[in-house]
Amino acid sequence: MDLFEAARAAWENAYAPYSGFKVGAALRCPDGSIHAGCNVENVAYPQGTCAEAGAIAAMVASGRTRIAEVCVVADGPEAISPCGGCRQKLAEFAAPDTAVILAGLDGERARTTVGALLPGAFDAAQMARAAR
Ligand code: THU
Repeated sequence: MDLFEAARAAWENAYAPYSGFKVGAALRCPDGSIHAGCNVENVAYPQGTCAEAGAIAAMVASGRTRIAEVCVVADGPEAISPCGGCRQKLAEFAAPDTAVILAGLDGERARTTVGALLPGAFDAAQMARAAR
């Protein structure tokens, strides 16, 4: 299964009864493994989680912490724009040039990078310098 297909399969299982906006995400690690997630909403709205967060949790639970490529799938006329919180979550485990594929249900719509999505990201190196 390729990265898009994994994200598309997760999209099928997204739990989004409140927004009606299903999202699937899949991450490829440097070893080739793929980890998928979907958004999981909650009647207590702030408790809902994004697809990217679910995929990251699955990756970390498998013992991996580096992302080589990302794919996010949603339905609609435009490529989905990952939310600000997810941009920061992806930046924790990816390089600025890590590819992010933004897809519709039929495949890729746009391609960007983690660094383009979150320029000037707050990172661990900055915090370490500030702590001196
Ligand atoms: N959502 C994601 O899963 N990822 C994003 O990057 C954008 C938003 C979800 C959260 C919520 O369940 C629904 O989309 C509407 O905001």
